[in-house]
Order: sequence, then structure tokens, then C-alpha cells
Amino acid sequence: MTQRQILVTAALPYANGHIHIGHLVEYIQTDVWVRFQKLRGHKCIYICADDTHGTTIMIRARQEGRSEEELIASMQEAHAADFAGFDIEFDNYGSTNSPENEQLCGEFWAALRKAGLVTERNVTQLYDPEAGTFLADRFVKGTCPKCGAEDQYGDSCDNCGATYSAAELINPKSTFTGATPEVREALHLFIEIEQLHDFLDQWVSEKDHLQPEVANYLKGQFLNEPLRDWDISRPAPYFGFEIPDSPGNYWFVWFDAPIGYMASTRQWCDKHGENFDDWWRNENSEVHHFIGKDIQYFHCLFWPAMLKTAGFNLPTKVHIHGFLTVNNRKMSKRDGTFVMASTYLRHLDPAYMRYYYASKLGPNLDNISLNLEEFVAKVNSDLVGKVVNLASRSAKFVQNENLSATYPDDGGLFQAAADAGDAIAQAYEDCDYNTAMREIMLLADRANKYIEEKEPWTLRKDESRHEELRDICTIALNLFRQIVVYLTPVLPRLAEQTGELLNTPIEHWDESKNPLTGVAVNRFTHLLKRVEMKQVEKMIEESREPEEVSAVSSDADGPEALEKEPLTEEHCTFDEFMKVDMRIARVIEAEEVTDSNKLLRLTLSLGGDERRNVFAGIKGVYQPEDLLGKLVVCCANLAPRKMRFGVSEGMVLAAGPGGKDIFVLRPDEGAVPGQRVH
Ligand code: 2FM
Ligand code: ZN
Repeated sequence: MTQRQILVTAALPYANGHIHIGHLVEYIQTDVWVRFQKLRGHKCIYICADDTHGTTIMIRARQEGRSEEELIASMQEAHAADFAGFDIEFDNYGSTNSPENEQLCGEFWAALRKAGLVTERNVTQLYDPEAGTFLADRFVKGTCPKCGAEDQYGDSCDNCGATYSAAELINPKSTFTGATPEVREALHLFIEIEQLHDFLDQWVSEKDHLQPEVANYLKGQFLNEPLRDWDISRPAPYFGFEIPDSPGNYWFVWFDAPIGYMASTRQWCDKHGENFDDWWRNENSEVHHFIGKDIQYFHCLFWPAMLKTAGFNLPTKVHIHGFLTVNNRKMSKRDGTFVMASTYLRHLDPAYMRYYYASKLGPNLDNISLNLEEFVAKVNSDLVGKVVNLASRSAKFVQNENLSATYPDDGGLFQAAADAGDAIAQAYEDCDYNTAMREIMLLADRANKYIEEKEPWTLRKDESRHEELRDICTIALNLFRQIVVYLTPVLPRLAEQTGELLNTPIEHWDESKNPLTGVAVNRFTHLLKRVEMKQVEKMIEESREPEEVSAVSSDADGPEALEKEPLTEEHCTFDEFMKVDMRIARVIEAEEVTDSNKLLRLTLSLGGDERRNVFAGIKGVYQPEDLLGKLVVCCANLAPRKMRFGVSEGMVLAAGPGGKDIFVLRPDEGAVPGQRVH
């Protein structure tokens, strides 16, 4: 087999958060692929780095009262510990905030300029006057301009699905400071990616760069019309690299992040005396990116365009996976299924997760569903019950002795399993780990059947049959080891333990082809424990965010309010009640009445063109902007009252004795202006 040279990357995790089990799908998937390639004897390196730039890091560092550099350094340490805990082994783990990256960004930039792809124009954006920074849409929250749902992000509404620009939100607030954003203009630099449309059309269509569904999605969604210019700069202040020929402007984090793959490669090359161009400007070297389906746009359009322009290798393949769901739902802090890597490691063996994910991962973009009961069942029945059991039922009968000097007749079992190796290898190569695991477990079933038939435990007391026992155990341990060779990419620790048990480290896939003979067997020690549902439950419990209300109690509700204002004895009739026309209304204008120290003037919308001008005695208790866009309940048929400041045409319902103790009634989410209240 000719040796391939393969550079593999996983997406760079953001430096603003810890690694969780959702991230691990990708890092494990990639780690398995890299370990597989290495085991096959290829020259393969696994490259990653922290993705450190952007506004979020800048603001967070400020809030924590430390420099961005300190913040990203401590996060990098935490990431490294989490990855190591899961046996995810990078050849180099860098940072996008490195001199190597800044230098490479400069190279890309010069190439883009030279190719005439850079253009500039003014952009209007929301600006947080308190933080002194522009706000990306996801850093603005407010009321949806379409349906009125509150607390929606600046680009789209979770409630009604509408998309809009952040400037259209009602009552927008910066998620950083809570300040009301202003609309400001600033100069931005763009890449005219449309100039590379033909190239991208061709690259996307070429066989094997992308999974077919990805190619179709890109063609149908983006490449069927002109590609929009890509905004790649952000004005100061921004944590990132300043653009050399555009002072005061910084490269947007998504510009320098993928270049971080190369910067991290350069660090590895420098450490290992390798030539960088040999990996990135060499048609005999492969580049494989592993990413999630949320960032395919960046990796399959922008990134190839940048690489092409700067004259680097294009990705050989972008491998895209789906998202993790837990018990068929999105990971959730409330359910305790948003499990951090470090929490997992306090309760469970990383091998369980590596195997479980491998058994679920296929070559397509389907979501990966982690079902906790299945997790326990699979680990116990496959890993412990089928694989490890092969060794625990045979090794102890020959420990501190040698395996048979020649490999005994096993009825063709070893050879058949050796023949299955090519198909298993192909499944790994295709990222079809699910198939690989299934094939391997079939081999384990056959090996277990052999041991059950031979019942080595019945021979142990009979000295005269010891050689027979040795032969059976030689077969069993070889079948076990062969399976472990196949599982080495997924379970490196088990491979290591197996190497120690049989005094022969597992170093190459082809060791699955030949049985070991005559080697000394070490003392058998436990390889992998069963997992108990209790351990999983504890982990979930530790991950659960306390619910705001766990039980309802009225014990703390004192009688003071009733004492102050006793209940009315007199009944009102149903008809009398129905005479009061109460409606849901939206506050569409709110201002303080200058000459009054109690009143706010509100314009209420009752839906359509129906409006009410209302004076409410809540000045000083509510700020006008706190009410803007909010839903309230109003009495719509209260006889108009002429006041000093104008006519009041209704009443906003509120509770409380008055003074500062006033509480405007707010309908639940989903109510819409004009609905009758009864
Ligand atoms: O989506 C993310 O988590 C990004 N930090 C991934 C960056 S990958 C690459 F382009 F650097
Ligand atoms: Zn909406």
C-alpha cells in the first residue's frame, strides 16, 4: 500500500465556552479517523486550535476584568484537559491568536487584494453605546416586529419564524450591557466571492469533495444565484488582527478562523522539521476537514475560494456530521442533558462515549441521537459482554505462561475475521463507523460462541489437559486481540492494555492478519467495567440547572393585601361583568407627561387601526421604554375622561396599592392585541 500524507482538522472550538458532549461527536469522530489512518501506516496529522477572536471574547474579558489573552489562555488549558480526558490526541493544538496566524492572514489578504476581490462600503449596524462596540444581530434581543414575541434574537424569531434585521426589533437591547442600541454607520471591507462562482460551481460538483446531500444543498441554496459579497471586516474595538492596509478595521473572526488550521500546521511543521508547503502546497498531500452541518457554508464556499485565490491546496474532502440529540431532544440544561465534558469524566469512562458515538456515526448528515438507556445497554452488552469478556474468560487460565508455540486449528475463525478486515477498514475510511462497529461485533459473537463451545473453565483443574486449555486460550486471546486491533481507533486504551497483556503493542492494522504465538501472557487485570444506569443518572443530575419553580407553595403569601383592602361582599352579575370590555393591547408609544409626576402617556394598539390614548399613573415606577412593545390588558370601553393633558380613552390594568407598588398586568406569551379578556 502506498503511504498517503493526510492532514486532518476538526472545527476550532470557540474560546468562549467549555467543551460539551455535543462538541465531542466531532472531535471523537475525527480522532477515530486519524487514529485509523495512522494505524494503517499513513502519515497523518490531526490539527486543531482554539478559535479566539471576536466581540464576545472581548466583552467577556472586560466583564471578568482581565485581558483577552488571559481569558483565552485559561480556556485553552481547560479545552486541552477535556480533550485529553477523552483520549482525543491532536498532533498540534494552536490558537488563532498566534503570530503564525497573523502572518498567514496577511498572505491571504495580499492575494485577495491582488486578485481584485476586495471592495469596501458603508454598513449600517446597531451599536451598543455602553460597550462602545457594534453589535452582530445575535447580540441584540427584543420583541419580534411580526408577532410580538419577546426576547427574540436580532435576526429571526423563534416563535413565528420571521426573519428581519436587528434594527426592526421592537425595544431592542444589547445582550452585553442591556443598553438600547443606536443605529450607526461604519466602513466595511468585503470579498466579492461572486467572481469565483464558476470555480465554486465546478469544485462543489466534482466527485468526492463533499457528501452528495451537501453538494446539492449548496447548489440549490447558494450557487443558483449570484453569491453575495462577504463582509470580512469589523471596525475597532474588536479582538482580532488589524487589517494592515485598513487601519482601525479588523478581520472578522470567520476570516482568520480557518486560516488557523494552517497556522497550527505551521507550528507543527516548525516543531518537527517539516516543510509547511509540503502539506499545503502539494498535490500529493490530502486535506480533510471535519465539521458540523451548521458551518458548511464557510467551509465549502468561502474557504475553497480563499485557498484557491492564495494558491494553496483545496480540501480533499469536507466531512460533515449532524447534531447531537439526547433522548430525542435538543441538549438542555433544564433536562440535565447539556453535559459538559468535564462532568462526564467525573462519572464515566471516556471509552463508553467513544464506542457509543462510533456505533451511531454514519457517513451522512443525520443527527446523532444519544439515548441514555441504549448507551448503558450497548456499552454493557457490546464492550463488556462481547469484547472484554473474550479476554476475561480466557486470559486468566494462561496468565504468567506462554501462548501455544504454533497457532492451533480454530476451524478457520481467525482467517475469516482477518478477511473481514478490508471491509471494516473501508467502513472506517468512509466514516461509516456504525457499519464498522456492527461488523466487529459479529466477529465478537463468533469468537464468544467458540469459547462457549470449548468451555475452557471445565479444563482448568485437569492437569493432563493443560495443553488443550492453552490451545483454546491461544485461539480465544488471538480472536480477542484481532478484534481489539479493529477497535484500536475507537478504543486506544483498550488497545494499550491488550498490548500489555500479551507483551506485544498494537501498532499496525495488519496485525489483525497474523495470530500471535509463543508470547508470554501477563497477569490479567480488569480491562473495562460495566456501566450502571445510576452513574449516568448522577451525571445528568449534576448537569441539571435548578428549575426556577420546583414546587408551588402559598405559605409565604401573607394576608396583608386583603387586610388593607377587604374583598367586596357585593356580587356583580355576569352581564355586569361582560359590560366591561377588556382587551389585550400593545403599547406602541410611551412617554412621560412633563407636567405630571404620576402620569405616563401611552398609545395602545388594539390590533388593526384601533388605538387608545391612555394616561396611566405609573410614572417613576415604569420607564416608558420598559413598556414599549409590551402587551398589557386595557379596559377599552371606559368612558373617555378629559384630563389636564388630554383625553384618556381607557385604562391599563395594574395591581398594587399605589405609590411605587404598582404592577402592570401582562398577558402570557401568545396573546395578541384585540383579544377579549374574560
Ligand atoms: O462554529 C464554531 O464553533 C467555530 N468556532 C468553528 C471554526 S472552524 C474553522 F473555520 F476555524
Ligand atoms: Zn415573531
